[in-house]
Amino acid sequence: MKIVVIGGTGLIGSKTVAVLRQDGHEVVAASPEGGVNTVTGEGLKEAMAGAQVVIDLANSPSFEDKAVLEFFETSGRNLLAAEAAASVQHHVALSIVGIDRTHNGYFRAKVAQEKLIKASGIPYTIIRSTQFLEFLAGIADSSADGNKVRLPPVLFQPIAADDVAAIVADVALAAPRSGIVEIAGPERAPFNEIVARYLKAVGDLRGVVRDPEARYFGGKVEERSLVPLGESRLGRIGFDEWLRRSKAGA
Ligand SMILES: NC(=O)c1ccc[n+]([C@@H]2O[C@H](COP(=O)([O-])OP(=O)(O)OC[C@H]3O[C@@H](n4cnc5c(N)ncnc54)[C@H](OP(=O)(O)O)[C@@H]3O)[C@@H](O)[C@H]2O)c1
Repeated sequence: MKIVVIGGTGLIGSKTVAVLRQDGHEVVAASPEGGVNTVTGEGLKEAMAGAQVVIDLANSPSFEDKAVLEFFETSGRNLLAAEAAASVQHHVALSIVGIDRTHNGYFRAKVAQEKLIKASGIPYTIIRSTQFLEFLAGIADSSADGNKVRLPPVLFQPIAADDVAAIVADVALAAPRSGIVEIAGPERAPFNEIVARYLKAVGDLRGVVRDPEARYFGGKVEERSLVPLGESRLGRIGFDEWLRRSKAGA
Protein backbone atom coordinates (compact mmCIF):
# COMPACT_ATOMS: atom_id res chain seq x y z
CA MET A 1 0.00 0.00 0.00
CA LYS A 2 1.30 3.50 -0.83
CA ILE A 3 1.33 5.78 2.20
CA VAL A 4 2.42 9.44 2.17
CA VAL A 5 3.79 10.83 5.43
CA ILE A 6 3.70 14.62 5.37
CA GLY A 7 6.44 15.85 7.72
CA GLY A 8 8.15 12.50 7.18
CA THR A 9 11.51 13.93 8.28
CA GLY A 10 10.28 15.25 11.65
CA LEU A 11 10.43 13.70 15.13
CA ILE A 12 7.27 11.57 14.82
CA GLY A 13 7.32 11.50 11.01
CA SER A 14 10.73 9.84 10.66
CA LYS A 15 9.86 7.19 13.27
CA THR A 16 6.48 6.49 11.65
CA VAL A 17 8.09 6.14 8.21
CA ALA A 18 10.55 3.60 9.66
CA VAL A 19 7.75 1.52 11.27
CA LEU A 20 5.71 1.44 8.05
CA ARG A 21 8.69 0.60 5.83
CA GLN A 22 9.62 -2.20 8.23
CA ASP A 23 6.11 -3.49 7.63
CA GLY A 24 6.76 -3.56 3.87
CA HIS A 25 4.70 -0.56 2.74
CA GLU A 26 5.67 1.88 0.02
CA VAL A 27 6.18 5.09 2.00
CA VAL A 28 6.85 8.62 0.75
CA ALA A 29 8.56 10.69 3.46
CA ALA A 30 7.39 14.11 2.31
CA SER A 31 8.97 17.40 3.39
CA PRO A 32 9.88 20.76 1.80
CA GLU A 33 13.50 19.74 1.37
CA GLY A 34 12.38 16.70 -0.58
CA GLY A 35 10.19 18.88 -2.83
CA VAL A 36 6.78 18.49 -1.12
CA ASN A 37 5.49 21.65 0.51
CA THR A 38 1.94 21.79 1.89
CA VAL A 39 2.05 25.58 2.28
CA THR A 40 3.01 26.40 -1.32
CA GLY A 41 1.41 23.26 -2.76
CA GLU A 42 4.69 22.27 -4.47
CA GLY A 43 4.95 18.55 -5.25
CA LEU A 44 1.62 17.61 -3.62
CA LYS A 45 -0.08 16.28 -6.75
CA GLU A 46 2.87 14.05 -7.62
CA ALA A 47 3.22 12.75 -4.05
CA MET A 48 -0.49 11.85 -3.83
CA ALA A 49 -0.62 9.86 -7.07
CA GLY A 50 -1.72 6.32 -6.22
CA ALA A 51 -1.65 6.90 -2.44
CA GLN A 52 -4.29 5.20 -0.34
CA VAL A 53 -3.37 6.75 3.01
CA VAL A 54 -1.94 10.16 3.95
CA ILE A 55 -0.57 10.82 7.44
CA ASP A 56 -0.13 14.50 8.31
CA LEU A 57 2.72 14.93 10.80
CA ALA A 58 3.85 18.37 9.64
CA ASN A 59 4.53 21.13 12.13
CA SER A 60 4.77 24.89 11.79
CA PRO A 61 8.30 26.34 11.67
CA SER A 62 7.02 29.25 13.80
CA PHE A 63 4.91 28.90 16.98
CA GLU A 64 3.89 32.58 16.96
CA ASP A 65 0.05 32.77 17.23
CA LYS A 66 -0.71 34.20 13.77
CA ALA A 67 2.00 32.24 11.94
CA VAL A 68 0.98 28.89 13.42
CA LEU A 69 -2.71 29.45 12.59
CA GLU A 70 -1.81 30.42 9.01
CA PHE A 71 0.42 27.36 8.70
CA PHE A 72 -2.16 24.78 9.80
CA GLU A 73 -4.99 26.43 7.83
CA THR A 74 -3.06 26.82 4.57
CA SER A 75 -1.30 23.48 4.86
CA GLY A 76 -4.55 21.70 5.76
CA ARG A 77 -6.51 23.25 2.85
CA ASN A 78 -3.84 22.46 0.24
CA LEU A 79 -3.26 18.95 1.51
CA LEU A 80 -6.93 17.97 1.77
CA ALA A 81 -7.67 19.38 -1.71
CA ALA A 82 -4.83 17.33 -3.20
CA GLU A 83 -6.05 14.22 -1.34
CA ALA A 84 -9.62 14.68 -2.58
CA ALA A 85 -8.36 15.02 -6.17
CA ALA A 86 -6.36 11.79 -5.78
CA SER A 87 -9.23 9.90 -4.05
CA VAL A 88 -7.16 9.19 -0.93
CA GLN A 89 -9.05 6.75 1.30
CA HIS A 90 -7.76 7.64 4.76
CA HIS A 91 -6.41 10.90 6.16
CA VAL A 92 -4.66 10.57 9.52
CA ALA A 93 -3.53 13.61 11.51
CA LEU A 94 -1.76 14.04 14.83
CA SER A 95 -3.44 16.53 17.13
CA ILE A 96 -3.26 17.24 20.86
CA VAL A 97 -5.38 16.15 23.86
CA GLY A 98 -7.34 19.05 25.34
CA ILE A 99 -6.97 21.57 22.48
CA ASP A 100 -10.61 22.59 22.91
CA ARG A 101 -10.35 22.86 26.71
CA THR A 102 -7.32 25.18 27.02
CA HIS A 103 -6.77 28.32 25.01
CA ASN A 104 -3.41 29.21 23.57
CA GLY A 105 -2.40 30.21 20.05
CA TYR A 106 -0.97 26.81 19.13
CA PHE A 107 -4.02 24.91 20.37
CA ARG A 108 -6.32 27.28 18.42
CA ALA A 109 -4.38 26.44 15.26
CA LYS A 110 -4.77 22.69 15.91
CA VAL A 111 -8.55 23.19 16.40
CA ALA A 112 -8.60 24.92 12.98
CA GLN A 113 -6.66 21.99 11.44
CA GLU A 114 -9.15 19.48 12.90
CA LYS A 115 -12.15 21.51 11.59
CA LEU A 116 -10.81 21.40 8.04
CA ILE A 117 -10.33 17.62 8.28
CA LYS A 118 -13.85 17.03 9.62
CA ALA A 119 -15.35 19.19 6.83
CA SER A 120 -13.26 17.65 4.03
CA GLY A 121 -15.43 14.63 3.26
CA ILE A 122 -12.31 12.42 3.23
CA PRO A 123 -12.50 9.42 5.62
CA TYR A 124 -10.21 10.35 8.52
CA THR A 125 -8.84 9.50 11.92
CA ILE A 126 -7.59 12.28 14.20
CA ILE A 127 -5.16 11.08 16.85
CA ARG A 128 -5.05 13.42 19.83
CA SER A 129 -1.85 12.81 21.79
CA THR A 130 -0.66 14.17 25.09
CA GLN A 131 2.70 16.01 25.09
CA PHE A 132 5.74 14.06 23.92
CA LEU A 133 8.41 13.23 26.54
CA GLU A 134 10.84 14.69 23.97
CA PHE A 135 9.05 18.04 24.43
CA LEU A 136 9.84 18.31 28.19
CA ALA A 137 12.97 20.40 27.55
CA GLY A 138 10.99 22.84 25.40
CA ILE A 139 8.27 23.07 28.05
CA ALA A 140 10.83 23.81 30.77
CA ASP A 141 12.39 26.55 28.65
CA SER A 142 9.04 28.12 27.81
CA SER A 143 8.04 28.10 31.51
CA ALA A 144 11.37 29.51 32.76
CA ASP A 145 11.41 32.54 34.99
CA GLY A 146 15.09 33.34 35.54
CA ASN A 147 16.70 30.27 37.08
CA LYS A 148 13.31 28.84 38.09
CA VAL A 149 10.70 26.98 36.08
CA ARG A 150 7.09 27.75 37.05
CA LEU A 151 4.51 25.07 36.41
CA PRO A 152 1.01 24.31 37.68
CA PRO A 153 0.38 21.05 39.59
CA VAL A 154 -2.20 19.89 36.98
CA LEU A 155 -2.22 16.29 35.79
CA PHE A 156 0.26 15.44 33.05
CA GLN A 157 0.72 12.19 31.11
CA PRO A 158 3.49 12.56 28.50
CA ILE A 159 4.16 9.88 25.89
CA ALA A 160 7.39 8.77 24.18
CA ALA A 161 7.78 9.59 20.47
CA ASP A 162 8.48 5.89 19.74
CA ASP A 163 5.08 4.96 21.21
CA VAL A 164 3.35 7.76 19.27
CA ALA A 165 4.89 6.58 15.99
CA ALA A 166 3.91 2.94 16.61
CA ILE A 167 0.30 3.95 17.33
CA VAL A 168 0.13 6.36 14.36
CA ALA A 169 1.32 3.59 12.02
CA ASP A 170 -1.20 1.15 13.49
CA VAL A 171 -4.10 3.62 13.18
CA ALA A 172 -3.11 4.47 9.60
CA LEU A 173 -3.35 0.82 8.58
CA ALA A 174 -6.76 0.33 10.23
CA ALA A 175 -10.10 1.51 8.86
CA PRO A 176 -10.83 5.24 9.21
CA ARG A 177 -12.79 6.05 12.39
CA SER A 178 -14.08 9.38 11.09
CA GLY A 179 -13.55 10.46 14.67
CA ILE A 180 -10.94 11.08 17.34
CA VAL A 181 -8.67 8.57 19.12
CA GLU A 182 -6.84 9.77 22.24
CA ILE A 183 -3.40 8.50 23.25
CA ALA A 184 -1.23 9.11 26.32
CA GLY A 185 1.80 7.82 28.19
CA PRO A 186 1.55 5.03 30.78
CA GLU A 187 2.19 7.32 33.80
CA ARG A 188 0.15 10.24 35.09
CA ALA A 189 1.56 12.70 37.66
CA PRO A 190 1.52 16.43 38.49
CA PHE A 191 3.07 18.53 35.68
CA ASN A 192 5.59 20.27 37.97
CA GLU A 193 6.78 16.93 39.40
CA ILE A 194 7.41 15.33 35.99
CA VAL A 195 9.37 18.34 34.73
CA ALA A 196 11.36 18.49 38.02
CA ARG A 197 12.20 14.81 37.64
CA TYR A 198 13.34 15.42 34.05
CA LEU A 199 15.52 18.43 34.88
CA LYS A 200 17.16 16.55 37.75
CA ALA A 201 17.82 13.52 35.54
CA VAL A 202 19.54 15.58 32.83
CA GLY A 203 21.56 17.63 35.35
CA ASP A 204 19.68 20.89 34.71
CA LEU A 205 20.10 22.88 37.93
CA ARG A 206 16.95 25.02 37.53
CA GLY A 207 14.43 24.46 40.32
CA VAL A 208 10.76 23.85 39.53
CA VAL A 209 8.24 26.01 41.41
CA ARG A 210 4.76 24.56 41.95
CA ASP A 211 2.64 27.51 40.91
CA PRO A 212 -1.13 26.94 40.55
CA GLU A 213 -1.38 30.24 38.64
CA ALA A 214 1.32 29.37 36.07
CA ARG A 215 -0.03 29.11 32.53
CA TYR A 216 0.73 26.63 29.75
CA PHE A 217 1.93 28.56 26.70
CA GLY A 218 -0.19 31.48 27.91
CA GLY A 219 -3.34 29.43 28.52
CA LYS A 220 -4.97 28.77 31.89
CA VAL A 221 -4.99 25.06 32.73
CA GLU A 222 -7.03 23.11 35.25
CA GLU A 223 -6.53 19.74 36.98
CA ARG A 224 -7.53 17.69 33.91
CA SER A 225 -6.97 20.12 31.01
CA LEU A 226 -4.02 18.22 29.53
CA VAL A 227 -5.01 14.58 30.08
CA PRO A 228 -7.60 12.41 28.31
CA LEU A 229 -11.01 12.55 30.03
CA GLY A 230 -12.33 9.33 28.56
CA GLU A 231 -10.89 6.14 27.20
CA SER A 232 -7.38 6.41 25.74
CA ARG A 233 -4.79 4.16 24.19
CA LEU A 234 -1.63 4.06 26.31
CA GLY A 235 2.00 3.95 25.23
CA ARG A 236 4.29 1.35 26.81
CA ILE A 237 7.42 3.40 27.50
CA GLY A 238 7.50 4.98 30.96
CA PHE A 239 9.64 7.93 32.02
CA ASP A 240 12.63 5.89 33.33
CA GLU A 241 12.73 3.64 30.29
CA TRP A 242 12.47 6.65 27.96
CA LEU A 243 15.32 8.38 29.80
CA ARG A 244 17.48 5.26 29.61
CA ARG A 245 16.81 4.97 25.85
CA SER A 246 17.46 8.68 25.19
CA LYS A 247 20.73 8.58 27.13
CA ALA A 248 21.79 5.42 25.27
CA GLY A 249 20.98 7.06 21.93
CA ALA A 250 22.70 10.36 22.78
N1 LIG B 1 5.09 18.38 20.74
C1 LIG B 1 4.11 17.70 21.30
O1 LIG B 1 4.18 17.39 22.50
C2 LIG B 1 2.90 17.30 20.50
C3 LIG B 1 1.86 16.63 21.12
C4 LIG B 1 0.79 16.18 20.37
C5 LIG B 1 0.76 16.43 18.97
N2 LIG B 1 1.79 17.10 18.38
C6 LIG B 1 1.72 17.28 16.90
O2 LIG B 1 2.59 16.32 16.30
C7 LIG B 1 2.90 16.74 14.98
C8 LIG B 1 4.35 16.37 14.67
O3 LIG B 1 5.22 17.05 15.56
P1 LIG B 1 6.80 16.81 15.53
O4 LIG B 1 7.33 17.28 16.84
O5 LIG B 1 7.11 15.43 15.05
O6 LIG B 1 7.23 17.87 14.39
P2 LIG B 1 8.71 18.25 13.91
O7 LIG B 1 9.73 17.33 14.47
O8 LIG B 1 8.87 19.72 14.11
O9 LIG B 1 8.63 17.96 12.33
C9 LIG B 1 7.84 18.75 11.51
C10 LIG B 1 7.84 18.18 10.10
O10 LIG B 1 7.01 19.02 9.28
C11 LIG B 1 7.70 19.29 8.08
N3 LIG B 1 7.23 20.53 7.49
C12 LIG B 1 7.38 21.80 7.92
N4 LIG B 1 6.83 22.67 7.05
C13 LIG B 1 6.29 21.91 6.05
C14 LIG B 1 5.60 22.23 4.86
N5 LIG B 1 5.35 23.48 4.50
N6 LIG B 1 5.23 21.20 4.04
C15 LIG B 1 5.49 19.90 4.37
N7 LIG B 1 6.13 19.55 5.50
C16 LIG B 1 6.53 20.55 6.33
C17 LIG B 1 9.16 19.36 8.52
O11 LIG B 1 10.02 19.27 7.39
P3 LIG B 1 11.56 19.80 7.52
O12 LIG B 1 12.29 18.73 8.30
O13 LIG B 1 12.03 19.91 6.09
O14 LIG B 1 11.50 21.12 8.21
C18 LIG B 1 9.23 18.14 9.43
O15 LIG B 1 9.33 16.97 8.65
C19 LIG B 1 2.54 18.23 14.92
O16 LIG B 1 1.40 18.40 14.10
C20 LIG B 1 2.20 18.61 16.36
O17 LIG B 1 1.19 19.59 16.44
C21 LIG B 1 2.84 17.52 19.10
